[in-house]
Amino acid sequence: MTLLDILPSLRAAMTPRLDPALWPATTHVDERGRITVGGVALADVADHFGTPAYVLDESDVRHRCRTYRDTFPEAEIAYAAKALLTRAVARWVTEEGLSLDVCSAGELETALSAGADPRRIILHGNAKTSADLSAARAAGVGRIVVDSHTEITLLAASGRGRQNVLVRVTPDVGVRTHRALTTGVHDQKFGFPISGGHAEDALRRVLGQPRLNLIGLHCHLGSQITDPAPFATAIDRLVGTMAQVRHDHGTILTQLNIGGGHGISYTTGDPALDPSTLAATVEDALDDACARHRFPRPRVTLEPGRAIVGRAGVTVYRVLSVKRIEGARTFVCVDGGMSDNPRVARYGARYGVAVANRHSTAPATVVTVAGRHCEAGDELAVDVSLPADLRPGDVLAVPVTGAYHHSMASSYNAVPRPPVVAVAHGVPRELVRRETVTDLLRRDVGA
Ligand SMILES: Cc1ncc(COP(=O)(O)O)c(C=O)c1O
Repeated sequence: MTLLDILPSLRAAMTPRLDPALWPATTHVDERGRITVGGVALADVADHFGTPAYVLDESDVRHRCRTYRDTFPEAEIAYAAKALLTRAVARWVTEEGLSLDVCSAGELETALSAGADPRRIILHGNAKTSADLSAARAAGVGRIVVDSHTEITLLAASGRGRQNVLVRVTPDVGVRTHRALTTGVHDQKFGFPISGGHAEDALRRVLGQPRLNLIGLHCHLGSQITDPAPFATAIDRLVGTMAQVRHDHGTILTQLNIGGGHGISYTTGDPALDPSTLAATVEDALDDACARHRFPRPRVTLEPGRAIVGRAGVTVYRVLSVKRIEGARTFVCVDGGMSDNPRVARYGARYGVAVANRHSTAPATVVTVAGRHCEAGDELAVDVSLPADLRPGDVLAVPVTGAYHHSMASSYNAVPRPPVVAVAHGVPRELVRRETVTDLLRRDVGA
Protein backbone atom coordinates (compact mmCIF):
# COMPACT_ATOMS: atom_id res chain seq x y z
CA MET A 1 0.00 0.00 0.00
CA THR A 2 1.38 3.40 -0.94
CA LEU A 3 1.06 6.66 0.91
CA LEU A 4 -1.35 7.76 -1.81
CA ASP A 5 -3.71 4.91 -0.97
CA ILE A 6 -3.72 5.89 2.70
CA LEU A 7 -4.06 9.60 2.05
CA PRO A 8 -6.02 10.04 -1.21
CA SER A 9 -6.00 13.82 -0.73
CA LEU A 10 -2.28 13.67 -1.41
CA ARG A 11 -3.05 12.64 -4.97
CA ALA A 12 -4.85 15.93 -5.59
CA ALA A 13 -1.93 17.81 -4.10
CA MET A 14 0.40 15.98 -6.49
CA THR A 15 -1.70 16.62 -9.54
CA PRO A 16 -0.25 19.41 -11.64
CA ARG A 17 -2.95 21.75 -12.84
CA LEU A 18 -3.96 20.32 -16.18
CA ASP A 19 -6.77 22.39 -17.64
CA PRO A 20 -9.44 19.98 -18.97
CA ALA A 21 -10.24 22.52 -21.71
CA LEU A 22 -6.76 21.93 -23.16
CA TRP A 23 -5.81 18.33 -22.45
CA PRO A 24 -7.27 15.24 -24.13
CA ALA A 25 -10.37 13.78 -22.47
CA THR A 26 -8.53 10.77 -21.05
CA THR A 27 -5.67 12.71 -19.42
CA HIS A 28 -4.74 11.71 -15.87
CA VAL A 29 -1.77 11.84 -13.54
CA ASP A 30 -0.58 8.46 -12.27
CA GLU A 31 0.65 7.59 -8.78
CA ARG A 32 4.20 8.48 -9.84
CA GLY A 33 3.12 11.97 -10.90
CA ARG A 34 3.44 11.15 -14.61
CA ILE A 35 0.90 12.48 -17.13
CA THR A 36 -1.02 9.70 -18.86
CA VAL A 37 -3.25 9.94 -21.93
CA GLY A 38 -5.42 7.04 -23.06
CA GLY A 39 -4.03 5.07 -20.12
CA VAL A 40 -0.44 5.43 -21.40
CA ALA A 41 2.24 7.46 -19.59
CA LEU A 42 3.64 10.10 -21.93
CA ALA A 43 7.08 9.34 -20.48
CA ASP A 44 6.68 5.74 -21.70
CA VAL A 45 5.80 7.00 -25.18
CA ALA A 46 8.96 9.12 -25.04
CA ASP A 47 11.08 6.13 -23.95
CA HIS A 48 9.59 3.73 -26.45
CA PHE A 49 9.03 5.85 -29.56
CA GLY A 50 11.61 8.58 -28.94
CA THR A 51 11.08 12.34 -28.91
CA PRO A 52 9.64 14.51 -30.20
CA ALA A 53 6.47 12.48 -30.75
CA TYR A 54 2.88 13.42 -31.47
CA VAL A 55 0.47 11.55 -29.20
CA LEU A 56 -3.16 11.27 -30.24
CA ASP A 57 -6.06 10.29 -27.98
CA GLU A 58 -8.36 8.15 -30.13
CA SER A 59 -11.34 8.39 -27.79
CA ASP A 60 -11.08 12.18 -27.70
CA VAL A 61 -11.28 12.31 -31.51
CA ARG A 62 -14.22 9.91 -31.60
CA HIS A 63 -15.97 11.78 -28.81
CA ARG A 64 -15.70 15.13 -30.65
CA CYS A 65 -17.11 13.52 -33.84
CA ARG A 66 -20.10 12.22 -31.86
CA THR A 67 -20.66 15.57 -30.18
CA TYR A 68 -20.84 17.27 -33.58
CA ARG A 69 -23.24 14.66 -34.94
CA ASP A 70 -25.48 14.91 -31.87
CA THR A 71 -25.39 18.71 -31.86
CA PHE A 72 -26.19 19.05 -35.58
CA PRO A 73 -28.49 16.06 -36.20
CA GLU A 74 -29.83 17.46 -39.51
CA ALA A 75 -26.50 18.61 -40.90
CA GLU A 76 -23.63 16.83 -42.60
CA ILE A 77 -20.33 17.02 -40.73
CA ALA A 78 -17.34 16.76 -43.05
CA TYR A 79 -14.02 16.46 -41.23
CA ALA A 80 -11.44 18.86 -42.70
CA ALA A 81 -8.59 16.47 -43.35
CA LYS A 82 -6.02 19.23 -43.71
CA ALA A 83 -5.98 19.52 -39.90
CA LEU A 84 -4.55 15.99 -39.53
CA LEU A 85 -4.82 13.05 -41.86
CA THR A 86 -3.52 9.57 -41.37
CA ARG A 87 -5.28 6.42 -42.49
CA ALA A 88 -6.35 5.64 -38.93
CA VAL A 89 -7.75 9.15 -38.42
CA ALA A 90 -9.70 8.85 -41.70
CA ARG A 91 -11.06 5.51 -40.47
CA TRP A 92 -12.04 6.83 -37.02
CA VAL A 93 -13.94 9.84 -38.35
CA THR A 94 -15.72 7.90 -41.09
CA GLU A 95 -16.66 5.16 -38.60
CA GLU A 96 -18.19 7.94 -36.51
CA GLY A 97 -20.36 8.95 -39.47
CA LEU A 98 -18.47 12.01 -40.74
CA SER A 99 -17.82 12.85 -44.38
CA LEU A 100 -14.33 14.01 -45.40
CA ASP A 101 -13.10 17.23 -46.93
CA VAL A 102 -9.77 16.89 -48.75
CA CYS A 103 -7.73 19.46 -50.64
CA SER A 104 -5.27 17.53 -52.77
CA ALA A 105 -4.83 14.26 -54.65
CA GLY A 106 -2.56 13.16 -51.78
CA GLU A 107 -5.21 13.69 -49.11
CA LEU A 108 -7.75 12.03 -51.40
CA GLU A 109 -5.51 8.98 -51.86
CA THR A 110 -4.95 8.72 -48.11
CA ALA A 111 -8.70 8.85 -47.43
CA LEU A 112 -9.45 6.28 -50.13
CA SER A 113 -6.73 3.95 -48.90
CA ALA A 114 -8.40 4.04 -45.48
CA GLY A 115 -11.62 2.82 -47.10
CA ALA A 116 -13.51 6.16 -47.12
CA ASP A 117 -16.53 6.21 -49.43
CA PRO A 118 -15.62 8.55 -52.34
CA ARG A 119 -19.23 9.68 -52.56
CA ARG A 120 -18.80 11.21 -49.10
CA ILE A 121 -15.62 13.08 -50.01
CA ILE A 122 -15.55 16.78 -50.91
CA LEU A 123 -12.56 18.20 -52.83
CA HIS A 124 -11.50 21.78 -52.15
CA GLY A 125 -8.69 24.11 -53.07
CA ASN A 126 -8.27 27.57 -54.53
CA ALA A 127 -5.81 26.26 -57.14
CA LYS A 128 -6.39 22.58 -57.75
CA THR A 129 -3.97 21.02 -60.18
CA SER A 130 -5.21 19.01 -63.11
CA ALA A 131 -3.81 15.97 -61.23
CA ASP A 132 -6.06 16.82 -58.25
CA LEU A 133 -9.09 17.16 -60.52
CA SER A 134 -8.37 14.00 -62.51
CA ALA A 135 -7.83 11.97 -59.33
CA ALA A 136 -11.12 13.25 -57.94
CA ARG A 137 -12.98 12.46 -61.17
CA ALA A 138 -11.40 9.01 -61.41
CA ALA A 139 -12.28 8.19 -57.81
CA GLY A 140 -15.84 9.48 -58.20
CA VAL A 141 -15.75 11.98 -55.35
CA GLY A 142 -19.19 13.17 -54.35
CA ARG A 143 -18.59 16.91 -54.67
CA ILE A 144 -15.95 19.24 -56.02
CA VAL A 145 -15.91 22.82 -54.76
CA VAL A 146 -15.20 25.03 -57.77
CA ASP A 147 -12.88 27.94 -57.05
CA SER A 148 -11.80 29.45 -60.39
CA HIS A 149 -12.84 29.87 -64.03
CA THR A 150 -9.96 27.66 -65.14
CA GLU A 151 -11.34 24.88 -63.00
CA ILE A 152 -14.79 25.24 -64.51
CA THR A 153 -13.26 24.80 -67.96
CA LEU A 154 -11.07 21.85 -66.91
CA LEU A 155 -13.88 20.05 -65.10
CA ALA A 156 -16.37 20.64 -67.88
CA ALA A 157 -14.01 18.87 -70.27
CA SER A 158 -13.05 15.95 -68.05
CA GLY A 159 -14.62 12.70 -66.90
CA ARG A 160 -17.61 10.86 -68.26
CA GLY A 161 -20.66 11.43 -66.09
CA ARG A 162 -22.01 14.63 -64.57
CA GLN A 163 -19.98 15.91 -61.64
CA ASN A 164 -21.77 17.39 -58.63
CA VAL A 165 -20.18 20.72 -57.79
CA LEU A 166 -20.52 23.54 -55.27
CA VAL A 167 -19.25 27.02 -56.01
CA ARG A 168 -17.12 28.65 -53.33
CA VAL A 169 -18.21 32.20 -52.75
CA THR A 170 -16.89 34.93 -50.48
CA PRO A 171 -19.75 36.64 -48.68
CA ASP A 172 -17.51 39.51 -47.46
CA VAL A 173 -17.97 38.58 -43.82
CA GLY A 174 -14.93 39.48 -41.71
CA VAL A 175 -14.10 37.69 -38.49
CA ARG A 176 -12.27 39.74 -35.93
CA THR A 177 -12.17 37.50 -32.90
CA HIS A 178 -9.39 36.01 -30.82
CA ARG A 179 -6.40 35.26 -33.11
CA ALA A 180 -8.78 34.60 -36.01
CA LEU A 181 -7.61 34.36 -39.61
CA THR A 182 -10.15 35.58 -42.12
CA THR A 183 -10.88 34.12 -45.57
CA GLY A 184 -14.50 35.11 -46.13
CA VAL A 185 -13.67 38.64 -47.27
CA HIS A 186 -13.28 40.18 -50.71
CA ASP A 187 -9.49 40.62 -50.88
CA GLN A 188 -8.04 37.10 -50.62
CA LYS A 189 -7.36 34.19 -52.93
CA PHE A 190 -10.31 31.90 -52.11
CA GLY A 191 -13.66 31.78 -53.85
CA PHE A 192 -15.72 34.16 -55.99
CA PRO A 193 -16.85 37.36 -54.23
CA ILE A 194 -20.62 37.77 -54.09
CA SER A 195 -20.20 41.51 -54.45
CA GLY A 196 -19.30 42.88 -57.86
CA GLY A 197 -21.09 40.07 -59.71
CA HIS A 198 -18.12 37.63 -59.59
CA ALA A 199 -20.10 34.79 -57.96
CA GLU A 200 -23.07 35.42 -60.23
CA ASP A 201 -20.83 35.13 -63.29
CA ALA A 202 -19.21 31.89 -62.05
CA LEU A 203 -22.60 30.37 -61.22
CA ARG A 204 -23.91 31.21 -64.69
CA ARG A 205 -20.87 29.59 -66.29
CA VAL A 206 -21.20 26.41 -64.22
CA LEU A 207 -24.90 26.17 -65.01
CA GLY A 208 -24.03 26.43 -68.70
CA GLN A 209 -21.84 23.29 -68.57
CA PRO A 210 -23.78 20.08 -69.27
CA ARG A 211 -21.15 17.95 -67.46
CA LEU A 212 -21.41 19.97 -64.24
CA ASN A 213 -24.30 19.60 -61.85
CA LEU A 214 -24.46 22.65 -59.59
CA ILE A 215 -25.99 21.57 -56.29
CA GLY A 216 -24.99 24.26 -53.82
CA LEU A 217 -22.74 26.98 -52.47
CA HIS A 218 -19.72 26.85 -50.20
CA CYS A 219 -17.97 29.40 -48.03
CA HIS A 220 -15.29 29.26 -45.34
CA LEU A 221 -14.95 32.33 -43.19
CA GLY A 222 -11.57 31.73 -41.58
CA SER A 223 -9.89 30.02 -38.65
CA GLN A 224 -10.20 30.21 -34.88
CA ILE A 225 -13.62 31.86 -35.03
CA THR A 226 -15.13 32.04 -31.56
CA ASP A 227 -18.14 34.29 -32.21
CA PRO A 228 -21.00 32.51 -34.06
CA ALA A 229 -22.47 35.77 -35.44
CA PRO A 230 -20.41 35.82 -38.70
CA PHE A 231 -21.88 32.41 -39.61
CA ALA A 232 -25.39 33.91 -39.38
CA THR A 233 -24.43 36.80 -41.67
CA ALA A 234 -22.85 34.38 -44.15
CA ILE A 235 -25.95 32.15 -44.18
CA ASP A 236 -28.12 35.17 -44.85
CA ARG A 237 -25.96 36.24 -47.83
CA LEU A 238 -25.62 32.73 -49.23
CA VAL A 239 -29.34 31.95 -49.04
CA GLY A 240 -29.90 35.33 -50.73
CA THR A 241 -27.55 34.23 -53.53
CA MET A 242 -29.36 30.89 -53.83
CA ALA A 243 -32.67 32.72 -54.16
CA GLN A 244 -31.12 34.88 -56.89
CA VAL A 245 -29.98 31.73 -58.77
CA ARG A 246 -33.54 30.41 -58.60
CA HIS A 247 -34.83 33.72 -59.92
CA ASP A 248 -32.27 34.02 -62.73
CA HIS A 249 -31.96 30.38 -63.82
CA GLY A 250 -34.86 28.46 -62.28
CA THR A 251 -32.41 26.15 -60.46
CA ILE A 252 -32.95 25.33 -56.79
CA LEU A 253 -29.66 24.72 -54.97
CA THR A 254 -30.06 22.25 -52.12
CA GLN A 255 -26.69 22.31 -50.33
CA LEU A 256 -25.16 25.03 -48.20
CA ASN A 257 -21.63 24.34 -46.97
CA ILE A 258 -20.57 26.92 -44.38
CA GLY A 259 -17.01 25.61 -43.92
CA GLY A 260 -15.13 25.18 -40.67
CA GLY A 261 -12.94 27.46 -38.59
CA HIS A 262 -14.49 26.68 -35.19
CA GLY A 263 -12.17 28.15 -32.58
CA ILE A 264 -10.64 26.14 -29.73
CA SER A 265 -8.62 27.19 -26.67
CA TYR A 266 -4.84 26.83 -26.84
CA THR A 267 -4.12 28.29 -23.42
CA THR A 268 -6.19 28.56 -20.27
CA GLY A 269 -8.91 31.18 -20.57
CA ASP A 270 -8.82 31.42 -24.39
CA PRO A 271 -12.33 31.65 -25.80
CA ALA A 272 -13.66 28.72 -27.87
CA LEU A 273 -16.68 28.26 -30.12
CA ASP A 274 -19.25 26.10 -28.38
CA PRO A 275 -20.86 23.75 -30.96
CA SER A 276 -24.33 24.05 -29.36
CA THR A 277 -24.22 27.86 -29.47
CA LEU A 278 -23.20 27.60 -33.12
CA ALA A 279 -26.03 25.12 -33.78
CA ALA A 280 -28.63 27.53 -32.35
CA THR A 281 -27.21 30.41 -34.41
CA VAL A 282 -27.20 28.35 -37.62
CA GLU A 283 -30.80 27.19 -37.04
CA ASP A 284 -32.09 30.71 -36.41
CA ALA A 285 -30.18 32.17 -39.36
CA LEU A 286 -31.52 29.46 -41.70
CA ASP A 287 -35.08 29.94 -40.47
CA ASP A 288 -34.87 33.70 -40.98
CA ALA A 289 -33.14 33.65 -44.36
CA CYS A 290 -35.30 30.88 -45.84
CA ALA A 291 -38.50 32.57 -44.64
CA ARG A 292 -37.45 35.96 -45.99
CA HIS A 293 -36.51 34.59 -49.41
CA ARG A 294 -39.27 31.94 -49.40
CA PHE A 295 -36.52 29.48 -50.16
CA PRO A 296 -36.64 25.74 -49.28
CA ARG A 297 -34.28 24.85 -46.47
CA PRO A 298 -30.95 23.60 -47.91
CA ARG A 299 -28.97 20.80 -46.25
CA VAL A 300 -26.15 22.35 -44.28
CA THR A 301 -22.60 20.97 -44.23
CA LEU A 302 -20.03 22.00 -41.61
CA GLU A 303 -16.32 21.33 -42.02
CA PRO A 304 -14.59 21.35 -38.63
CA GLY A 305 -10.96 20.25 -38.58
CA ARG A 306 -9.19 21.74 -35.58
CA ALA A 307 -12.28 21.35 -33.37
CA ILE A 308 -12.25 17.57 -34.00
CA VAL A 309 -8.55 16.75 -33.53
CA GLY A 310 -6.84 19.78 -31.97
CA ARG A 311 -7.34 18.88 -28.31
CA ALA A 312 -6.73 15.16 -28.88
CA GLY A 313 -3.05 15.83 -29.60
CA VAL A 314 -0.12 16.28 -27.22
CA THR A 315 3.49 16.63 -28.36
CA VAL A 316 6.20 15.20 -26.12
CA TYR A 317 9.74 16.54 -26.12
CA ARG A 318 12.88 15.77 -24.17
CA VAL A 319 14.71 18.64 -22.45
CA LEU A 320 18.23 18.95 -23.88
CA SER A 321 19.51 21.89 -21.88
CA VAL A 322 18.44 24.69 -19.54
CA LYS A 323 20.16 28.04 -20.22
CA ARG A 324 19.84 30.72 -17.57
CA ILE A 325 20.97 34.01 -19.08
CA GLU A 326 21.81 36.64 -16.48
CA GLY A 327 19.48 39.64 -16.82
CA ALA A 328 17.49 37.91 -19.57
CA ARG A 329 15.31 34.88 -20.05
CA THR A 330 15.81 31.27 -19.06
CA PHE A 331 15.63 29.03 -22.11
CA VAL A 332 14.57 25.41 -21.82
CA CYS A 333 15.83 23.88 -25.06
CA VAL A 334 14.09 20.75 -26.36
CA ASP A 335 14.70 18.26 -29.15
CA GLY A 336 11.94 19.55 -31.47
CA GLY A 337 10.73 22.98 -32.49
CA MET A 338 9.44 24.85 -35.49
CA SER A 339 9.76 21.79 -37.74
CA ASP A 340 7.10 19.92 -35.73
CA ASN A 341 5.17 23.03 -34.63
CA PRO A 342 5.39 25.86 -37.16
CA ARG A 343 2.38 27.67 -35.66
CA VAL A 344 4.34 29.74 -33.14
CA ALA A 345 6.68 31.27 -35.72
CA ARG A 346 3.96 31.43 -38.40
CA TYR A 347 0.96 32.76 -36.43
CA GLY A 348 2.39 33.84 -33.07
CA ALA A 349 0.40 30.98 -31.49
CA ARG A 350 0.70 30.45 -27.74
CA TYR A 351 0.87 27.15 -25.88
CA GLY A 352 1.06 25.84 -22.34
CA VAL A 353 3.64 23.23 -21.30
CA ALA A 354 3.79 20.67 -18.48
CA VAL A 355 6.43 18.32 -17.12
CA ALA A 356 5.18 14.85 -18.03
CA ASN A 357 7.63 12.41 -16.46
CA ARG A 358 7.53 13.32 -12.77
CA HIS A 359 5.94 15.43 -10.13
CA SER A 360 8.20 18.26 -9.05
CA THR A 361 7.83 20.07 -5.76
CA ALA A 362 10.25 22.81 -6.82
CA PRO A 363 8.88 26.37 -7.10
CA ALA A 364 7.69 27.46 -10.53
CA THR A 365 9.82 29.76 -12.62
CA VAL A 366 9.03 31.61 -15.85
CA VAL A 367 10.91 30.24 -18.87
CA THR A 368 10.82 30.13 -22.66
CA VAL A 369 10.73 26.69 -24.22
CA ALA A 370 12.91 26.93 -27.33
CA GLY A 371 13.44 24.50 -30.18
CA ARG A 372 16.61 23.03 -31.63
CA HIS A 373 16.52 24.78 -35.00
CA CYS A 374 18.93 27.41 -36.27
CA GLU A 375 16.41 30.21 -36.20
CA ALA A 376 15.97 32.88 -33.52
CA GLY A 377 12.16 32.63 -33.73
CA ASP A 378 12.23 28.91 -33.02
CA GLU A 379 10.32 29.07 -29.75
CA LEU A 380 7.52 26.74 -28.68
CA ALA A 381 6.20 28.49 -25.60
CA VAL A 382 7.11 31.92 -24.34
CA ASP A 383 6.88 32.95 -20.66
CA VAL A 384 5.46 29.72 -19.30
CA SER A 385 5.74 28.50 -15.73
CA LEU A 386 7.78 25.35 -15.23
CA PRO A 387 9.50 23.91 -12.13
CA ALA A 388 12.84 25.48 -11.32
CA ASP A 389 14.48 22.03 -11.01
CA LEU A 390 13.87 21.15 -14.67
CA ARG A 391 16.87 19.26 -16.04
CA PRO A 392 18.09 17.60 -19.24
CA GLY A 393 16.24 14.33 -19.80
CA ASP A 394 12.91 15.57 -18.42
CA VAL A 395 9.92 15.04 -20.68
CA LEU A 396 7.76 18.05 -21.54
CA ALA A 397 4.26 17.80 -22.97
CA VAL A 398 2.55 20.49 -25.05
CA PRO A 399 -1.23 20.08 -25.36
CA VAL A 400 -3.57 21.15 -28.19
CA THR A 401 -1.17 20.00 -30.86
CA GLY A 402 -3.45 17.61 -32.76
CA ALA A 403 -4.37 19.99 -35.59
CA TYR A 404 -2.01 21.61 -38.11
CA HIS A 405 1.09 20.17 -36.48
CA HIS A 406 1.80 16.80 -38.09
CA SER A 407 0.09 18.07 -41.26
CA MET A 408 2.24 21.25 -41.37
CA ALA A 409 5.51 19.67 -40.18
CA SER A 410 8.72 20.08 -42.19
CA SER A 411 12.15 18.52 -42.10
CA TYR A 412 13.92 21.87 -41.64
CA ASN A 413 17.61 21.44 -40.75
CA ALA A 414 17.23 17.84 -42.03
CA VAL A 415 15.53 16.99 -38.76
CA PRO A 416 13.25 14.03 -39.54
CA ARG A 417 9.55 14.46 -38.76
CA PRO A 418 8.15 12.88 -35.56
CA PRO A 419 5.94 9.82 -35.38
CA VAL A 420 2.20 9.96 -34.63
CA VAL A 421 1.34 7.57 -31.80
CA ALA A 422 -2.30 6.80 -31.02
CA VAL A 423 -3.16 5.89 -27.44
CA ALA A 424 -6.31 4.07 -26.31
CA HIS A 425 -7.17 1.76 -23.42
CA GLY A 426 -3.62 1.65 -22.13
CA VAL A 427 -2.08 0.70 -25.48
CA PRO A 428 0.13 2.94 -27.66
CA ARG A 429 0.05 2.31 -31.40
CA GLU A 430 2.26 3.96 -33.99
CA LEU A 431 0.14 5.43 -36.79
CA VAL A 432 2.95 7.18 -38.63
CA ARG A 433 6.54 6.15 -38.00
CA ARG A 434 9.33 8.61 -37.39
CA GLU A 435 10.97 9.88 -40.57
CA THR A 436 14.63 8.95 -40.85
CA VAL A 437 17.63 10.66 -42.39
CA THR A 438 17.66 7.74 -44.84
CA ASP A 439 14.14 8.79 -45.94
CA LEU A 440 15.43 12.31 -46.53
CA LEU A 441 18.51 11.12 -48.42
CA ARG A 442 16.41 8.84 -50.60
CA ARG A 443 14.89 11.94 -52.20
CA ASP A 444 18.29 13.55 -52.69
CA VAL A 445 18.98 11.98 -56.07
CA GLY A 446 21.47 14.45 -57.51
CA ALA A 447 24.89 13.44 -56.08
C1 LIG B 1 -12.47 25.06 -46.91
C2 LIG B 1 -12.06 24.75 -45.50
N1 LIG B 1 -12.88 24.00 -44.74
C3 LIG B 1 -12.55 23.68 -43.47
C4 LIG B 1 -11.37 24.09 -42.92
C5 LIG B 1 -11.05 23.68 -41.52
O1 LIG B 1 -10.79 24.72 -40.68
P1 LIG B 1 -10.62 24.45 -39.12
O2 LIG B 1 -9.62 23.37 -38.97
O3 LIG B 1 -10.14 25.74 -38.58
O4 LIG B 1 -11.96 24.02 -38.62
C6 LIG B 1 -10.48 24.88 -43.68
C7 LIG B 1 -9.21 25.36 -43.10
O5 LIG B 1 -8.44 26.06 -43.63
C8 LIG B 1 -10.84 25.20 -45.01
O6 LIG B 1 -10.04 25.94 -45.79
